[in-house]
Amino acid sequence: MSTLLDVQGLTVTLATNSGPMTIVDDVDYAVEQGQVFGVAGESGSGKTISVLALMQLLPAGAQTSGRANYGGQDLLSLRSRALRRVRGAELAMVFQDPLTSLHPMLSIGKQLTEHVRSHEGASRSAAAKRAVELLEEVRIPDPEHALHGFPHQFSGGMRQRIAIAIALAARPKLLIADEPTTALDVTVQAGILRLLDRLRRENGLSVILITHDLGVMSSIADEVAIFYAGRIVESGPTHDLLTAPRHPYTRALLDALPHPEAAEGTALIAIPGSPPTPRARPSGCAFHPRCPYASDQSRVEVPPLVAVSESRLLACHVDPFRPA
Ligand SMILES: Nc1ncnc2c1ncn2[C@@H]1O[C@H](COP(=O)(O)OP(=O)(O)OP(=O)(O)O)[C@@H](O)[C@H]1O
Ligand SMILES: [Mg+2]
Repeated sequence: MSTLLDVQGLTVTLATNSGPMTIVDDVDYAVEQGQVFGVAGESGSGKTISVLALMQLLPAGAQTSGRANYGGQDLLSLRSRALRRVRGAELAMVFQDPLTSLHPMLSIGKQLTEHVRSHEGASRSAAAKRAVELLEEVRIPDPEHALHGFPHQFSGGMRQRIAIAIALAARPKLLIADEPTTALDVTVQAGILRLLDRLRRENGLSVILITHDLGVMSSIADEVAIFYAGRIVESGPTHDLLTAPRHPYTRALLDALPHPEAAEGTALIAIPGSPPTPRARPSGCAFHPRCPYASDQSRVEVPPLVAVSESRLLACHVDPFRPA
């Protein structure tokens, strides 16, 4: 396997009413070709901002540092022409809010075929045929008819699927998908996951998949990174990480999930407290106020993300779940 994207020291500061605020703090990860790289973590932990940074789609006033090596170039410092060449064609994004990716005034057919034509130089009729195929792949009923529709005429879940079809139209090498299946019912969701899995196997598509659904994660992601307050606190191969979490936060996230085998009426163990806002990030390990294992060191020193085995990375001074 070769590395498609290598992110090093990604830090993002946003301009806010109360001054600059660091939202993503020194994040490192690599995405291999043909790999699905999962990103999870509570709401507000910086998942979306970290991927918007890769696409240079941050709000005005944002500052980014670090590197994102992709094909010998740094995505974070690409200038507009090179950026246009890469974005859409090689890197595509499905936004958390599907309306962001759809133009309200253009028909679905127009939006799909423009994409196919601009990236593949296909004839009008070939592009139309491919547009129908793409809609079939994301299971839009009656695709020929759907091509004439406008975004507002579709339900939220259908818009999400149309946004996925548009993102895939240019046959990207890397798809960044931010909660792509959250609005979808289980069968449609399974269809989308199968589609991504097939594109990964047949075309070597790589995917950065942001999802809070650890079930989705375990069914498709090869690797998972867990975000907390703008940092990765733990990462590793999905099965490994989900069955033997090392970070107290990852463990708490998993404990908060309903287990199918749990007795009916069993209360879920909620994580005490709430995630910190960037304005009031705790000192040391940002999770320490909510962590039953926190030490004095956790309260003052930010734990670095370090290798604890061949494939696992952990940022915890205490490491209470270290295997014996
Ligand atoms: N345009 C903005 N200006 C200022 N702060 C912002 C802006 N967008 C996001 N933030 C803040 O950045 C932090 C991270 O936001 P982000 O959208 O990346 O979270 P997330 O992990 O994707 O959460 P969710 O799971 O809810 O989508 C949050 O505290 C959020 O309030
Ligand atoms: Mg988000």
